[in-house]
Parts: sequence; C-alpha cells; structure tokens
Amino acid sequence: MTTLVDIANASGRSFTTTLTRAEQREMGQFMTPPTIARFMAERLVAGPSQYHVRVLEPAAGGGILAAAVVEALLAKAPADRPGRIELMLYELDTRLIPNLRDLCLLMSQSSVLAGVEFDFVIENVDFLMSPLALSGEQLPGLVTISNPPFLKLNKTTDARARLHAYAVHGQPNIYALFMAATARLTAPGGRWCFITPRSWMAGEYFKAARHTLLRHLNIDSLHAFESRTEGFEEDAVLQETVIAWASGRATVEHGANIMVTRSQGGADLATAGVQALPVERVVGDDEHAMFSLPRDATNPFEGWTATLKTHGFEVSTGRVVAFRASEYIREYSGVGTVPLLWLQHVRQQQILWPVQKKREHILASAQSAWMLVPNAPMVVMRRFSPKEDERRVTCAAYLGQLPGDAIGLENHLNYIYRPGGHMTPAEARGLAAFLASSVVDAHFRALAGSTQVNATELRKLPFPPLAVLVHIGEIVGDFPSLNRIDQVVNVALTAQRPIEEATTA
Ligand SMILES: C[S@@+](CC[C@H](N)C(=O)[O-])C[C@H]1O[C@@H](n2cnc3c(N)ncnc32)[C@H](O)[C@@H]1O
Repeated sequence: MTTLVDIANASGRSFTTTLTRAEQREMGQFMTPPTIARFMAERLVAGPSQYHVRVLEPAAGGGILAAAVVEALLAKAPADRPGRIELMLYELDTRLIPNLRDLCLLMSQSSVLAGVEFDFVIENVDFLMSPLALSGEQLPGLVTISNPPFLKLNKTTDARARLHAYAVHGQPNIYALFMAATARLTAPGGRWCFITPRSWMAGEYFKAARHTLLRHLNIDSLHAFESRTEGFEEDAVLQETVIAWASGRATVEHGANIMVTRSQGGADLATAGVQALPVERVVGDDEHAMFSLPRDATNPFEGWTATLKTHGFEVSTGRVVAFRASEYIREYSGVGTVPLLWLQHVRQQQILWPVQKKREHILASAQSAWMLVPNAPMVVMRRFSPKEDERRVTCAAYLGQLPGDAIGLENHLNYIYRPGGHMTPAEARGLAAFLASSVVDAHFRALAGSTQVNATELRKLPFPPLAVLVHIGEIVGDFPSLNRIDQVVNVALTAQRPIEEATTA
C-alpha cells in the first residue's frame, strides 16, 4: 500500500533529481529518507495527543516529515488520536507547492476516514520572515518537525539574521534560526523535533541558539548518527547528524533524564540501544550550555562512574589576570617574588620555568596572596590550545619543584589540585598522562565542535578508579612522550580489572 510518506518521498526525490548537487547545496535541499522521517515522527507524537494538534513543518520540501507525523497520529488508538489536525507547511521554493497541495488533499482524505478533522495551509514564503516566526508567541498544541536548510548567513546584511538576532552569536547558520524560532512558538505540552548537523550542540557560534532552545524547551531525547553520510543515504551530507526531540517547557523537572540513542544510519535503527542520562551529563551547566553525547558501548569510558570530584580533586582557573595584577607582576626576580606560570611555561608533560619570558615573576604579599596557590603537586593545563595541536589537552604534572611557598598561575591556565589535602606526585603524573592520552583525546573530539577543554568538561569527564591513575603515575616516568603515555595508559586500562580487584581485596 502506498503511504503518505511514500508519496511525499517520491515528490521530494523527483524534485531533487532535477537539481545539480551545487543547487541542492545552495538551497539546502536535502530530503529526509522515509525510515528516518517515520523514526522522528513516532518518537515525536508518542503518547496520547491533545484534542487539537497543530503540525508545523517550516521547511517542507516534499512534506515527508509532516506526512510521517500525520500518519503516526492517525495510526494511534482512537482514544489517543487527536480530534483535529491543523497542518502548517512553509516552503520557499514555488516548484514544490503543487505537490504539497496534492499531498495535503490525500492527508485530508485519510484523516476524514479516521474520523479526524483536518485543515491545512501552505505558505510559499520564507518561514523566518513569516508573521508566525516573527511573532515569537506560543501556539497551543504545536508540534514542529523539521529538517531545515543548512546555510551560513551574513549576520549584518541578512534580514533573517537581524530579525532573529536573539539566536545569533557570531556567524549564524540558517538551521539554528529555524530551531530557535520554532522553539519560541512551542507551548507547554507542545512537541518539537529537528534533524540537523551536530554543530549546534557545542559550537561557540551556536551559543545564543542553545540558550533560546533551553529557555523554551526541555530536551527529552537525542539520537546520534555515527556515520557521516548514512543519515541521508542518497545525499552526501558531510556532517554528522543528530535528531533532537523536545517538549514545550513548563517547569524544569529536577533529576530529569535525556534519552540517548545512536546508530550508524537508518538501517540499524531497530537495534540501537537506549541510555537514559541525567540532563547534567548531557548539557553543560555553565554559560556555554554545551551538549555532549555519551560514547558508544565499546568506549572505555563506559562504566566509569568516578569524576575528578569523587576522587577528591577540583579543577580551577588560574587567578592571576595580568592587567588587574600588574602592580604585583615583575620582570625580574627579587625580594618576595615567586614564579608566575603562563601558557608558555606549560608544555606537553613538562613545566619549563623560567623561559626568559617577560614578566614571569609575581610578588607574594599579603595583598596578592589570594591570587596565588600553594607550591605543591598539581596538574597544570592550558585552557587554550591551537587546533593543530596533536592533543586537545596540553598539561603537565607539577611536583612543587619551583622556589617559594606559593606560585602564581595566569588566567589562561587551569589546574587540578586536591582541596584540603595534598596530591601525591604519582597522582599528579597519572592524571597528567591520562588527560593527554589518546583515549581522552578521542573522547573530547567526539564531543561535537569544541576545540577547547574547559573546566566544565573536565568536571564531567568520567575517570577510571584512582588506583589506576596512581598506577599510571608510578610507571609513566618524567616528561613522557605521547607514545609512552598511550602505551602505559592502554596497558593500565586493559588491566584495570586486576588493579581494581587488588586494591579492594
Ligand atoms: C533540507 S530540505 C528538507 C525538506 C523536507 N523537510 C525533508 O525533510 O525532506 C529544506 C527545504 O526547505 C526549503 N527552504 C529553504 N529555505 C527556506 C526558508 N527560509 N523558508 C522556508 N523553506 C525554506 C528548501 O526549499 C527545502 O525544500
């Protein structure tokens, strides 16, 4: 039997075959395959429906996502089915409108057969410039589903970027404006689902969009496609894709979970496992509000429940802000000065001081004491590393070898220490080696977009048992190379079980 989804799929596909790949890219015309459209719709409308459901597909193409939602709504048991469906389709390309109209007429017939009232509007306009998108007002019963166009916009000359400035930070991509604009329209009880590249989850340029989403929506569920092209089998979309499902925000429930699933593509959806993760493990709690996805089952991090905090460590940012502390910072050592470490002093696995850099001393006095740290073992790391660096984390074990009772750490450094106690040299070496290992590097690279490893990400990072870190620190040696680190860390993690057992025995 030919379904609404099949009809929408055929119309979308036949349209894209008339376009060159360049035209497709320019207009963001990548159509969603039927399996994925159904997957999105089913999770979107699960559970009993409101009586009056408004379905919005703001970048409709062939209308496949709207068709999948209408199909899923009509397939519900009569008690869970809506009494009325109002469909709103927006599509900029005039050539797609006649087929959308035909599709709506078929949906109308199917709805009547199921005893459901059905109306539709098709707007051949730019959704972002439409009165609905610009109103920013909640529409009761709204269910949005979208595979929006992907295009970078000019922040100053593009009217859409200016009119949706609340979601712009740096260079906007049109897809994030679709996400943010529809989030604002979602009322409590409403639902929202988008398939997009993963870049919105962590990219700096998507910060304002993320804040808009989190202000208006509770993210309920995420599905990550691991493969770069399978999300759209027939279209070579290069970026990894993610599907997000959300509900209109009424209150934030304490202890809420986000359901996370992953698959290679559309073919293995049925076998994708489900994880329920506390919101805090997925969404960063600082101003960046970055999202990160947990790893798949083959990842060594799976099963580690320890964090820096549970091991008794804390991570902080260096307190010496050069322009505010200029009265204490010195060119030369002298009476009462102690070392001041800057980014340049922290090499991979090695602290080099002095390096004949300007201003590498700081006066230790009662007044400056608050910005200094005790001269004791810790791990010091760069907050910013150039993209081309081999590892995301550049850090070193500092064992307290420099002169003085305290030292200064400049604000571009983070440090890990044990509050109210002492980190042992083996702990410092073990932590520094683990953080620079390829295992941790791969983990951070899997968190979309981010090139910097900030304190929030370090706090969220799962760690192996402390005994494993200490073991690494005891054998890795001084100033280890990255090769040496990987060798030691890999062996220690593979042998983790015996070490754990030995320490608990
Ligand atoms: C990525 S395609 C997705 C089509 C369909 N929703 C699907 O999932 O197969 C995006 C569609 O949005 C349309 N579009 C692009 N910019 C738009 C805009 N500003 N307003 C409305 N539609 C737009 C394109 O013409 C294209 O058909």
